[in-house]
Amino acid sequence: MSSHTPARTQVAVVGAGPAGLMLTHLLAQAGIDSVALDTRTRTEIEQTHRAGILEQDSVDLLVDTGVSDRVHRDGYRHDGIELAFGGGSHRIDFQGLVGASTQLYPQTDVFIDLADARERDGGDVRFGVSDVSVGDLESDAPFVRFTDADGAQHELRADFLVGADGSRSLCRREVPEDSRRQYFREYPFAWFGILTEAPPSAPELIYSHSEHGFALISQRTETLQRMYFQCDPSEDPQAWSDDRIWSELQTRVGANGYTLQEGPITSRSVLPFRSFVQEPMHHGRLVLAGDAAHTVPPTGAKGLNLALADVRVLAEELERAVAAGGLAPLADYSRRALERVWKAQHFSYWMTTMLHTLPDATPFDVRRQEGELAAVTSSVAGSTFLAEAYTGWPRRA
Ligand code: DHB
Repeated sequence: MSSHTPARTQVAVVGAGPAGLMLTHLLAQAGIDSVALDTRTRTEIEQTHRAGILEQDSVDLLVDTGVSDRVHRDGYRHDGIELAFGGGSHRIDFQGLVGASTQLYPQTDVFIDLADARERDGGDVRFGVSDVSVGDLESDAPFVRFTDADGAQHELRADFLVGADGSRSLCRREVPEDSRRQYFREYPFAWFGILTEAPPSAPELIYSHSEHGFALISQRTETLQRMYFQCDPSEDPQAWSDDRIWSELQTRVGANGYTLQEGPITSRSVLPFRSFVQEPMHHGRLVLAGDAAHTVPPTGAKGLNLALADVRVLAEELERAVAAGGLAPLADYSRRALERVWKAQHFSYWMTTMLHTLPDATPFDVRRQEGELAAVTSSVAGSTFLAEAYTGWPRRA
Protein backbone atom coordinates (compact mmCIF):
# COMPACT_ATOMS: atom_id res chain seq x y z
CA MET A 1 0.00 0.00 0.00
CA SER A 2 1.50 3.29 -0.98
CA SER A 3 0.22 4.95 2.21
CA HIS A 4 2.67 2.76 4.14
CA THR A 5 5.69 4.07 2.29
CA PRO A 6 7.16 7.24 3.72
CA ALA A 7 8.14 9.46 0.82
CA ARG A 8 11.42 9.95 2.59
CA THR A 9 13.68 7.92 4.86
CA GLN A 10 17.20 8.46 6.13
CA VAL A 11 18.71 5.33 4.58
CA ALA A 12 17.14 3.30 1.76
CA VAL A 13 18.66 -0.16 1.40
CA VAL A 14 18.30 -2.14 -1.81
CA GLY A 15 18.66 -5.80 -0.84
CA ALA A 16 17.23 -7.44 2.27
CA GLY A 17 19.60 -10.38 2.58
CA PRO A 18 21.91 -10.69 5.59
CA ALA A 19 23.93 -7.55 4.73
CA GLY A 20 20.92 -5.29 4.19
CA LEU A 21 19.01 -6.57 7.21
CA MET A 22 21.99 -6.44 9.56
CA LEU A 23 22.68 -2.87 8.44
CA THR A 24 19.11 -1.72 9.09
CA HIS A 25 19.18 -3.47 12.49
CA LEU A 26 22.36 -1.57 13.46
CA LEU A 27 21.00 1.72 12.09
CA ALA A 28 17.78 1.30 14.07
CA GLN A 29 19.83 0.88 17.24
CA ALA A 30 21.56 4.18 16.42
CA GLY A 31 18.17 5.87 16.01
CA ILE A 32 18.43 6.11 12.21
CA ASP A 33 15.37 5.13 10.21
CA SER A 34 15.56 3.04 7.07
CA VAL A 35 13.59 1.04 4.54
CA ALA A 36 14.97 -2.20 3.10
CA LEU A 37 13.56 -3.85 0.00
CA ASP A 38 14.24 -6.99 -1.98
CA THR A 39 12.93 -8.40 -5.24
CA ARG A 40 12.90 -11.88 -3.71
CA THR A 41 10.19 -13.05 -1.32
CA ARG A 42 11.20 -13.99 2.21
CA THR A 43 10.54 -17.66 1.38
CA GLU A 44 12.75 -17.51 -1.71
CA ILE A 45 15.67 -16.18 0.32
CA GLU A 46 15.10 -18.77 3.05
CA GLN A 47 15.24 -21.57 0.49
CA THR A 48 18.56 -20.53 -1.05
CA HIS A 49 21.39 -22.70 0.28
CA ARG A 50 24.55 -20.76 1.01
CA ALA A 51 27.68 -21.27 3.09
CA GLY A 52 27.58 -22.34 6.69
CA ILE A 53 30.61 -21.03 8.57
CA LEU A 54 30.62 -17.94 10.82
CA GLU A 55 33.70 -16.22 12.16
CA GLN A 56 33.73 -15.33 15.86
CA ASP A 57 33.11 -11.63 15.06
CA SER A 58 30.04 -12.57 12.99
CA VAL A 59 28.66 -14.63 15.89
CA ASP A 60 29.33 -11.76 18.31
CA LEU A 61 27.59 -9.29 15.99
CA LEU A 62 24.42 -11.40 15.97
CA VAL A 63 24.42 -12.07 19.69
CA ASP A 64 25.79 -8.82 21.17
CA THR A 65 23.52 -6.53 19.13
CA GLY A 66 20.46 -8.53 20.20
CA VAL A 67 19.53 -10.10 16.86
CA SER A 68 19.37 -13.60 18.37
CA ASP A 69 21.40 -16.04 20.45
CA ARG A 70 19.99 -19.04 18.56
CA VAL A 71 23.45 -19.54 17.02
CA HIS A 72 24.64 -20.71 20.45
CA ARG A 73 21.81 -23.24 20.71
CA ASP A 74 21.52 -24.50 17.12
CA GLY A 75 25.06 -23.92 15.85
CA TYR A 76 28.09 -26.17 16.23
CA ARG A 77 31.37 -24.78 17.46
CA HIS A 78 34.38 -25.94 15.45
CA ASP A 79 37.86 -25.59 16.92
CA GLY A 80 39.71 -26.63 13.75
CA ILE A 81 39.55 -28.08 10.25
CA GLU A 82 41.19 -31.03 8.53
CA LEU A 83 43.39 -30.43 5.49
CA ALA A 84 43.58 -33.81 3.74
CA PHE A 85 46.17 -34.53 1.04
CA GLY A 86 48.95 -36.97 0.12
CA GLY A 87 47.04 -39.96 1.52
CA GLY A 88 46.51 -38.51 5.00
CA SER A 89 44.96 -35.70 6.99
CA HIS A 90 46.40 -32.78 8.96
CA ARG A 91 44.41 -30.88 11.56
CA ILE A 92 44.65 -27.10 11.76
CA ASP A 93 43.98 -26.45 15.47
CA PHE A 94 42.36 -23.00 15.58
CA GLN A 95 42.12 -22.89 19.37
CA GLY A 96 45.71 -23.97 19.90
CA LEU A 97 47.09 -21.64 17.21
CA VAL A 98 45.04 -18.45 17.57
CA GLY A 99 42.62 -19.08 20.45
CA ALA A 100 39.59 -18.72 18.17
CA SER A 101 36.83 -20.93 16.79
CA THR A 102 34.25 -20.84 14.04
CA GLN A 103 30.59 -21.69 14.26
CA LEU A 104 28.79 -23.97 11.83
CA TYR A 105 25.52 -22.06 11.36
CA PRO A 106 24.03 -21.77 7.86
CA GLN A 107 23.48 -18.41 6.17
CA THR A 108 19.79 -19.31 5.88
CA ASP A 109 19.53 -19.31 9.67
CA VAL A 110 21.38 -16.00 9.91
CA PHE A 111 18.83 -14.57 7.48
CA ILE A 112 15.86 -16.00 9.42
CA ASP A 113 17.20 -14.56 12.69
CA LEU A 114 17.66 -11.14 11.09
CA ALA A 115 14.26 -11.11 9.36
CA ASP A 116 12.58 -12.13 12.64
CA ALA A 117 14.49 -9.43 14.54
CA ARG A 118 13.47 -6.71 12.07
CA GLU A 119 9.85 -7.83 12.34
CA ARG A 120 10.05 -7.93 16.16
CA ASP A 121 11.56 -4.41 16.24
CA GLY A 122 9.07 -2.94 13.76
CA GLY A 123 11.60 -2.49 10.95
CA ASP A 124 10.33 -1.54 7.49
CA VAL A 125 11.33 -4.40 5.18
CA ARG A 126 9.59 -5.00 1.82
CA PHE A 127 10.09 -8.41 0.23
CA GLY A 128 8.87 -9.39 -3.23
CA VAL A 129 9.07 -5.93 -4.81
CA SER A 130 9.71 -5.45 -8.55
CA ASP A 131 10.78 -2.81 -11.11
CA VAL A 132 13.50 -1.46 -8.81
CA SER A 133 15.49 1.52 -10.04
CA VAL A 134 17.73 4.04 -8.30
CA GLY A 135 18.93 7.49 -9.33
CA ASP A 136 19.97 11.06 -8.47
CA LEU A 137 22.93 9.53 -6.65
CA GLU A 138 24.90 12.76 -6.70
CA SER A 139 22.04 14.90 -5.45
CA ASP A 140 21.03 15.52 -1.81
CA ALA A 141 18.08 13.17 -2.19
CA PRO A 142 18.75 10.04 -4.24
CA PHE A 143 15.68 7.93 -4.98
CA VAL A 144 14.67 4.32 -5.23
CA ARG A 145 11.56 3.48 -7.24
CA PHE A 146 9.81 0.14 -6.96
CA THR A 147 6.51 -1.67 -7.30
CA ASP A 148 5.48 -3.37 -4.07
CA ALA A 149 4.17 -6.93 -3.72
CA ASP A 150 0.58 -5.60 -4.08
CA GLY A 151 1.37 -3.85 -7.35
CA ALA A 152 1.52 -0.25 -6.05
CA GLN A 153 4.29 2.00 -7.36
CA HIS A 154 6.50 3.98 -5.00
CA GLU A 155 9.23 6.55 -5.08
CA LEU A 156 11.28 6.82 -1.94
CA ARG A 157 13.79 9.61 -1.39
CA ALA A 158 16.61 9.08 1.09
CA ASP A 159 19.62 10.86 2.55
CA PHE A 160 21.73 7.82 1.70
CA LEU A 161 21.24 4.84 -0.56
CA VAL A 162 22.83 1.46 0.15
CA GLY A 163 23.30 -1.20 -2.52
CA ALA A 164 23.30 -4.51 -0.63
CA ASP A 165 21.75 -6.24 -3.60
CA GLY A 166 24.12 -9.14 -4.13
CA SER A 167 26.56 -10.24 -6.80
CA ARG A 168 24.24 -9.20 -9.67
CA SER A 169 23.82 -5.78 -8.08
CA LEU A 170 21.73 -3.22 -9.91
CA CYS A 171 23.07 -0.39 -7.71
CA ARG A 172 26.67 -1.19 -8.63
CA ARG A 173 25.88 -0.58 -12.29
CA GLU A 174 24.68 2.96 -11.55
CA VAL A 175 28.22 4.08 -10.72
CA PRO A 176 29.63 5.76 -13.86
CA GLU A 177 32.51 3.87 -15.45
CA ASP A 178 34.97 6.70 -14.98
CA SER A 179 34.24 6.78 -11.25
CA ARG A 180 35.04 3.17 -10.39
CA ARG A 181 37.45 0.37 -11.07
CA GLN A 182 36.53 -3.30 -11.36
CA TYR A 183 38.83 -6.25 -10.63
CA PHE A 184 37.79 -9.65 -11.90
CA ARG A 185 39.10 -13.20 -11.98
CA GLU A 186 37.50 -16.39 -13.23
CA TYR A 187 38.44 -19.96 -12.31
CA PRO A 188 38.33 -23.02 -14.60
CA PHE A 189 36.17 -25.01 -12.16
CA ALA A 190 33.03 -24.84 -10.00
CA TRP A 191 31.58 -26.70 -7.00
CA PHE A 192 28.94 -29.39 -7.18
CA GLY A 193 27.07 -28.87 -3.87
CA ILE A 194 24.72 -31.36 -2.25
CA LEU A 195 22.59 -31.76 0.86
CA THR A 196 22.17 -35.32 2.06
CA GLU A 197 20.07 -36.95 4.77
CA ALA A 198 22.87 -38.82 6.51
CA PRO A 199 24.76 -38.73 9.80
CA PRO A 200 27.97 -36.66 9.93
CA SER A 201 31.05 -38.29 8.44
CA ALA A 202 33.48 -36.32 10.64
CA PRO A 203 33.25 -33.96 13.62
CA GLU A 204 34.90 -31.06 11.75
CA LEU A 205 35.18 -29.89 8.14
CA ILE A 206 37.45 -31.81 5.77
CA TYR A 207 39.11 -29.90 2.92
CA SER A 208 40.40 -32.72 0.73
CA HIS A 209 42.92 -32.34 -2.10
CA SER A 210 43.88 -35.21 -4.40
CA GLU A 211 44.58 -35.97 -8.03
CA HIS A 212 40.86 -36.82 -8.34
CA GLY A 213 39.96 -33.20 -7.52
CA PHE A 214 38.95 -31.19 -4.48
CA ALA A 215 36.15 -32.17 -2.09
CA LEU A 216 34.78 -30.41 1.00
CA ILE A 217 32.89 -32.35 3.66
CA SER A 218 30.77 -30.02 5.76
CA GLN A 219 27.74 -30.55 7.98
CA ARG A 220 24.40 -29.02 8.87
CA THR A 221 22.83 -31.09 11.68
CA GLU A 222 23.02 -34.62 13.15
CA THR A 223 20.86 -35.81 10.25
CA LEU A 224 21.66 -33.43 7.38
CA GLN A 225 25.07 -32.93 5.74
CA ARG A 226 26.51 -30.49 3.20
CA MET A 227 29.22 -31.60 0.77
CA TYR A 228 30.90 -30.16 -2.29
CA PHE A 229 33.21 -31.43 -4.98
CA GLN A 230 35.12 -29.66 -7.71
CA CYS A 231 33.50 -29.97 -11.14
CA ASP A 232 33.43 -28.37 -14.55
CA PRO A 233 31.47 -25.06 -14.55
CA SER A 234 29.20 -26.38 -17.33
CA GLU A 235 28.16 -29.50 -15.37
CA ASP A 236 24.40 -30.16 -15.26
CA PRO A 237 23.56 -31.21 -11.67
CA GLN A 238 20.36 -32.96 -12.78
CA ALA A 239 22.36 -35.29 -15.04
CA TRP A 240 24.00 -36.91 -12.00
CA SER A 241 22.44 -39.91 -10.22
CA ASP A 242 22.87 -40.26 -6.44
CA ASP A 243 25.16 -43.27 -7.04
CA ARG A 244 27.42 -41.32 -9.36
CA ILE A 245 27.68 -38.44 -6.88
CA TRP A 246 28.55 -40.76 -3.99
CA SER A 247 31.11 -42.61 -6.07
CA GLU A 248 32.79 -39.32 -7.01
CA LEU A 249 32.85 -38.07 -3.41
CA GLN A 250 34.08 -41.41 -1.99
CA THR A 251 36.92 -41.60 -4.54
CA ARG A 252 38.09 -38.10 -3.68
CA VAL A 253 38.15 -38.43 0.11
CA GLY A 254 39.06 -42.14 -0.04
CA ALA A 255 42.42 -41.10 -1.51
CA ASN A 256 43.13 -39.48 1.87
CA GLY A 257 41.76 -42.27 4.08
CA TYR A 258 38.15 -41.15 4.67
CA THR A 259 34.87 -42.97 4.07
CA LEU A 260 31.63 -41.01 3.92
CA GLN A 261 28.28 -41.92 5.45
CA GLU A 262 25.82 -41.98 2.55
CA GLY A 263 22.14 -41.09 2.40
CA PRO A 264 19.52 -39.74 0.02
CA ILE A 265 20.58 -36.54 -1.77
CA THR A 266 17.90 -33.90 -1.27
CA SER A 267 19.44 -30.94 -3.09
CA ARG A 268 22.08 -30.46 -5.77
CA SER A 269 23.44 -27.40 -7.54
CA VAL A 270 26.54 -26.05 -9.26
CA LEU A 271 28.19 -22.99 -7.70
CA PRO A 272 30.28 -20.69 -9.88
CA PHE A 273 33.73 -19.46 -8.83
CA ARG A 274 34.60 -15.81 -9.23
CA SER A 275 36.72 -13.15 -7.61
CA PHE A 276 35.42 -9.62 -8.06
CA VAL A 277 35.89 -6.20 -6.46
CA GLN A 278 34.50 -2.81 -7.42
CA GLU A 279 36.22 0.14 -5.80
CA PRO A 280 35.67 2.57 -4.31
CA MET A 281 32.59 1.24 -2.51
CA HIS A 282 30.82 4.61 -2.65
CA HIS A 283 29.65 7.13 -5.23
CA GLY A 284 27.80 10.32 -4.38
CA ARG A 285 25.27 9.27 -1.75
CA LEU A 286 25.35 5.60 -2.77
CA VAL A 287 27.40 3.00 -0.90
CA LEU A 288 27.81 -0.67 -1.78
CA ALA A 289 28.02 -3.48 0.79
CA GLY A 290 28.62 -7.24 0.67
CA ASP A 291 28.44 -9.16 -2.61
CA ALA A 292 27.27 -6.03 -4.45
CA ALA A 293 30.82 -4.70 -4.09
CA HIS A 294 32.84 -7.91 -3.97
CA THR A 295 32.61 -11.65 -4.60
CA VAL A 296 35.00 -14.31 -3.37
CA PRO A 297 35.22 -17.95 -4.44
CA PRO A 298 33.56 -20.11 -1.74
CA THR A 299 36.65 -21.95 -0.43
CA GLY A 300 37.07 -20.72 3.15
CA ALA A 301 33.50 -19.37 3.46
CA LYS A 302 34.37 -15.68 3.57
CA GLY A 303 31.41 -14.21 1.62
CA LEU A 304 28.84 -13.80 4.39
CA ASN A 305 31.46 -12.90 7.00
CA LEU A 306 32.82 -10.17 4.77
CA ALA A 307 29.34 -8.77 4.16
CA LEU A 308 28.70 -8.60 7.91
CA ALA A 309 32.10 -6.96 8.47
CA ASP A 310 31.19 -4.37 5.79
CA VAL A 311 27.93 -3.36 7.40
CA ARG A 312 29.42 -3.15 10.88
CA VAL A 313 31.79 -0.46 9.55
CA LEU A 314 29.10 1.06 7.33
CA ALA A 315 26.67 1.55 10.25
CA GLU A 316 29.38 3.45 12.15
CA GLU A 317 30.21 5.68 9.19
CA LEU A 318 26.57 6.32 8.27
CA GLU A 319 25.98 7.38 11.85
CA ARG A 320 28.81 9.90 11.43
CA ALA A 321 27.48 11.05 8.07
CA VAL A 322 23.97 11.56 9.48
CA ALA A 323 25.35 13.52 12.45
CA ALA A 324 27.75 15.69 10.43
CA GLY A 325 25.78 15.92 7.21
CA GLY A 326 28.85 15.39 5.01
CA LEU A 327 29.97 12.67 2.63
CA ALA A 328 33.52 12.14 3.97
CA PRO A 329 32.42 9.18 6.17
CA LEU A 330 31.37 7.31 3.00
CA ALA A 331 34.92 7.47 1.68
CA ASP A 332 36.17 6.37 5.11
CA TYR A 333 33.80 3.40 4.95
CA SER A 334 35.13 2.39 1.55
CA ARG A 335 38.75 2.66 2.65
CA ARG A 336 38.21 0.75 5.90
CA ALA A 337 36.09 -1.99 4.33
CA LEU A 338 38.47 -2.53 1.41
CA GLU A 339 41.36 -3.33 3.76
CA ARG A 340 39.52 -6.44 4.93
CA VAL A 341 38.06 -7.15 1.47
CA TRP A 342 41.48 -7.50 -0.12
CA LYS A 343 42.81 -9.68 2.69
CA ALA A 344 39.80 -11.93 2.22
CA GLN A 345 40.27 -11.85 -1.57
CA HIS A 346 43.79 -13.12 -1.09
CA PHE A 347 42.76 -15.78 1.44
CA SER A 348 39.90 -17.13 -0.71
CA TYR A 349 42.09 -17.17 -3.83
CA TRP A 350 44.92 -18.84 -1.90
CA MET A 351 42.73 -21.59 -0.35
CA THR A 352 41.14 -22.16 -3.76
CA THR A 353 44.36 -22.46 -5.75
CA MET A 354 46.14 -24.46 -3.03
CA LEU A 355 43.41 -27.10 -2.82
CA HIS A 356 41.88 -27.50 -6.30
CA THR A 357 43.16 -29.53 -9.21
CA LEU A 358 43.92 -27.21 -12.11
CA PRO A 359 42.81 -28.65 -15.47
CA ASP A 360 46.03 -27.65 -17.25
CA ALA A 361 48.47 -28.35 -14.39
CA THR A 362 51.96 -29.53 -15.31
CA PRO A 363 53.74 -32.19 -13.19
CA PHE A 364 55.70 -29.29 -11.68
CA ASP A 365 52.47 -27.50 -10.68
CA VAL A 366 51.14 -30.66 -8.99
CA ARG A 367 54.28 -31.29 -6.93
CA ARG A 368 54.61 -27.59 -6.04
CA GLN A 369 51.03 -27.61 -4.73
CA GLU A 370 51.82 -30.63 -2.54
CA GLY A 371 54.88 -28.77 -1.29
CA GLU A 372 52.69 -25.80 -0.43
CA LEU A 373 50.23 -27.95 1.54
CA ALA A 374 53.14 -29.62 3.37
CA ALA A 375 54.71 -26.25 4.13
CA VAL A 376 51.46 -24.93 5.63
CA THR A 377 50.56 -28.01 7.68
CA SER A 378 54.07 -28.82 8.99
CA SER A 379 54.80 -25.31 10.20
CA VAL A 380 53.30 -23.46 13.16
CA ALA A 381 53.81 -20.18 11.29
CA GLY A 382 52.09 -21.53 8.16
CA SER A 383 49.19 -23.06 10.08
CA THR A 384 48.76 -19.91 12.16
CA PHE A 385 48.43 -17.78 9.03
CA LEU A 386 45.63 -20.06 7.83
CA ALA A 387 43.94 -20.27 11.26
CA GLU A 388 43.97 -16.49 11.75
CA ALA A 389 42.45 -15.81 8.34
CA TYR A 390 39.91 -18.65 8.54
CA THR A 391 38.57 -17.64 11.96
CA GLY A 392 38.60 -13.97 10.88
CA TRP A 393 41.23 -11.32 11.44
CA PRO A 394 40.58 -9.59 14.72
CA ARG A 395 39.01 -6.18 14.35
CA ARG A 396 41.25 -3.27 15.11
CA ALA A 397 40.19 -1.27 18.15
C1 DHB B 1 30.75 -24.44 3.78
C2 DHB B 1 31.01 -23.70 2.65
C3 DHB B 1 32.29 -23.27 2.38
O1 DHB B 1 32.55 -22.55 1.27
C4 DHB B 1 33.33 -23.57 3.23
O2 DHB B 1 34.57 -23.16 2.94
C5 DHB B 1 33.07 -24.28 4.38
C6 DHB B 1 31.78 -24.71 4.65
C7 DHB B 1 29.37 -24.91 4.08
O3 DHB B 1 28.47 -24.61 3.29
O4 DHB B 1 29.16 -25.60 5.08
